[in-house]
Amino acid sequence: MKVTWTLRDSSTKTANVASGTNMMEAAVANHITGVVGECGGNLSCATCHVFVEADWAAKTGEVGDFEDAMLDATEAERTNTSRLSCQIIADESLDGLKLIVPIL
Ligand code: FES
Repeated sequence: MKVTWTLRDSSTKTANVASGTNMMEAAVANHITGVVGECGGNLSCATCHVFVEADWAAKTGEVGDFEDAMLDATEAERTNTSRLSCQIIADESLDGLKLIVPIL
């Protein structure tokens, strides 16, 4: 599946992501500036914060309770499409997914 990240400077990067990969891992593998993934996807750092483009927000699933709490600790202000990208898992239903990186 393809994923496109929009960075703070408005540039975009598109990459192929294998099903089963989480979007933090995909971002780190593709050198997406602003997605760090310090905790390795264990829901304890919030350095993988992204905004999901509005058209895609419902398709990425529900925010879990712990994720919800962690989203209150992000560096960039939370929005209604904020997600921790380690909690979004690639599958073919997300082909074309667009994510916005809120920090540099
Ligand atoms: S990588 Fe730490 S919360 Fe997502």
